[in-house]
Amino acid sequence: MKTFKLAPSILSADFTKLGEEIASVERGGADIIHIDVMDGHFVPNITVGPLVVEAARASTNLPLDVHLMIEHPGLYIESFVKAGANMISVHIETTTHLERTIAAIKALGAQAGVVLNPATPLNSAEEIVPIVDFILLMSVNPGFAAQKFIPLVLDKIRRLRAILDARNPNCPIEVDGGISLQKVAEVARAGASIFVAGSAIFGTPDPEGTTRAFKETLSRLMS
Ligand code: DX5
Ligand code: ZN
Repeated sequence: MKTFKLAPSILSADFTKLGEEIASVERGGADIIHIDVMDGHFVPNITVGPLVVEAARASTNLPLDVHLMIEHPGLYIESFVKAGANMISVHIETTTHLERTIAAIKALGAQAGVVLNPATPLNSAEEIVPIVDFILLMSVNPGFAAQKFIPLVLDKIRRLRAILDARNPNCPIEVDGGISLQKVAEVARAGASIFVAGSAIFGTPDPEGTTRAFKETLSRLMS
């Protein structure tokens, strides 16, 4: 049986009550909490660092999935693991010594993922595929919440699933950007199994209820 996981992104949460926001999606059935780290260089926006990961860690026992949209991510991995990250993903576009960075994340005891921007070809990840714990495909150009899902990523998910089935069959595909309650089934059918959703959850008046609705949609697809 397929397992689908929902990872609400706190980028769209109300940071004046971050603990409550995380608790509400946890009550709704969230599987993972996604945290977007941006440096103002790799992407044109600045968000949060290890301090906020630490605050999230104190608010929940759910796995924390830290998406590093920063240059030189290798320099910061240890601080994020110490702050409580369970999954760390680095962009293939920022990481010169990718094998070393992946090995360093694993050596610190976290799950290691690589992220590809929408226009980054799958073959740039080909050599690293056997050793990663998950692959994150961006379905928007990273930097901001509430952008539109880029449809060409659907075929990319299908092609990546076929590559993984041959070379790392247990490796899940995570998809991030523009995922709504209306879109999630199509993304799941293409072959993804971890779904990040920011504005579609925290941008609604009832994040708990919306999380539950996402989970219900996903469990119908699992059976
Ligand atoms: C975008 C971030 C996403 C963002 C998704 O650069 O990586 O995780 O929070 O937000 P939505 O779901 O609103 O597109
Ligand atoms: Zn993200």
